[in-house]
Amino acid sequence: MYHNTMSMATGEDDLHWKNLYSATSGDLDLKRLEEAYKGWSETYDEDQVKMKFNGPHQAAQKLSSLMADKSKKILDVACGTGGVGKELHSQGYVNIDGVDLVQDMLTHAEQTGVYSRLEACDVIGQGISCPDGTYDAIVCVGAFNQGNITQAVFPELLRVAKKGCIILIVMREAFVYTCPDFKNGQLDTDILMRAQNGIWKYTLRETVPKFIGDLSGLLYAMEVQ
Ligand SMILES: C[S@@+](CC[C@H](N)C(=O)[O-])C[C@H]1O[C@@H](n2cnc3c(N)ncnc32)[C@H](O)[C@@H]1O
Repeated sequence: MYHNTMSMATGEDDLHWKNLYSATSGDLDLKRLEEAYKGWSETYDEDQVKMKFNGPHQAAQKLSSLMADKSKKILDVACGTGGVGKELHSQGYVNIDGVDLVQDMLTHAEQTGVYSRLEACDVIGQGISCPDGTYDAIVCVGAFNQGNITQAVFPELLRVAKKGCIILIVMREAFVYTCPDFKNGQLDTDILMRAQNGIWKYTLRETVPKFIGDLSGLLYAMEVQ
């Protein structure tokens, strides 16, 4: 299985990771994925601290360097318990919405008090209930992973993005090479093709050290045209 090589480094040998990986190792099964996150929601935040998950902070810092106006409207895709929203708020952003598949994760996100609107939905299969062209920035952190968020989400992100919207994705770097949905350059090719077709400008692709523990992340930024 694609994840095993990293488990010792991040504590992924624990029960919640096992449930998650078991839910995402075969064909996409949203019910199992939902159950896995539902069972994790209570301890998710403390586990992120233990695993030294720096992705939310790194994403918020990067957005701050790309989008100075703190009143702009941001969508946090797969917001989970709200770690990214908290970091965006610390950077001064005040207009943040979040969407996630799992209501139990959103219940924690709501408690952060930093989101204007939260919605439970499968962003790929159902989409988000908001008008076209709503957001100035869209962030997705730690959710590009097998059986979670994949490049299949791009049409919906582009629908809800305004012209000029910054789309920021931060994920574990190794997943680009190991996850069946991304490997052999599939994710990079999809992003590049959309850039070549004038859908977005491909602004950044950079490695982020210590995304989770000592493991690197990969950050993509695109600007919708
Ligand atoms: C590893 S967590 C990351 C949460 C948060 N972004 C963070 O940085 O802590 C992945 C999240 O993706 C959500 N997710 C996975 N597939 C989804 C989908 N199709 N639609 C919406 N959310 C999804 C899960 O419910 C989970 O909360």
